[in-house]
Amino acid sequence: MSEAVNDAALDTLFRTARSYNHYTDRAVSEDQLRAIWDLMKWGPTSANQLPARLVWCVSDEAKAKLAACASEGNRDKIMKAPVTVIIGMDVEFHEHLPELFPHTDAKAWFDGNTELRTASAFRNSSLQGGYFILAARALGLDTGPMSGFDQGAVDKAFFADQPGVRSNFIATLGYGDPASLHPRSPRPAFEKFNTVA
Ligand SMILES: Cc1cc2nc3c(=O)[nH]c(=O)nc-3n(C[C@H](O)[C@H](O)[C@H](O)COP(=O)(O)O)c2cc1C
Repeated sequence: MSEAVNDAALDTLFRTARSYNHYTDRAVSEDQLRAIWDLMKWGPTSANQLPARLVWCVSDEAKAKLAACASEGNRDKIMKAPVTVIIGMDVEFHEHLPELFPHTDAKAWFDGNTELRTASAFRNSSLQGGYFILAARALGLDTGPMSGFDQGAVDKAFFADQPGVRSNFIATLGYGDPASLHPRSPRPAFEKFNTVA
């Protein structure tokens, strides 16, 4: 149990936070990347699987390799952002469960069941991608999540030596340039998509 965070924190995390395609020149340090991980790692995943595998593209070379796999409209965004992150997922995550979920033999639940592991890796790495976005915001940074890329090409370029790892989505990271924003798309009231049963 804890206290609700204040209004300013709610704005930072949700209400005034935006998805960005353009960033200021302000640099992002490796310490900041590590600080994002040190927050997002606490977000819950099934049986503490932590299946996300992140590649933080900071060099021009890594960004160019990624941009070559992206849809045309996303290439420039990747090249110009201070950092672009690949949120990958490890379908062989169960090999780490003896370390990550040590009080029971959770690895046995997934041994030999690739279909279950793939569904679980996708579900939980997507959650971790959401934790990544919120952790970045909590630290004063902005992100631009993107699914416009060739998954097979990214996997070949970045995960060739890790056959169990596949890309889920990618996200630019930096200090967003508010001048680049278009008007925000609407978010409906509770009644539209919710049922209290
Ligand atoms: C998983 C995911 C994939 C997305 N893919 C793209 C993309 O390929 N290109 C792009 O420009 N924006 C992409 N977006 C950005 C969304 O359009 C944006 O987050 C949404 O409209 C909300 O904008 P807001 O946060 O500024 O309100 C993606 C967002 C998410 C979460």
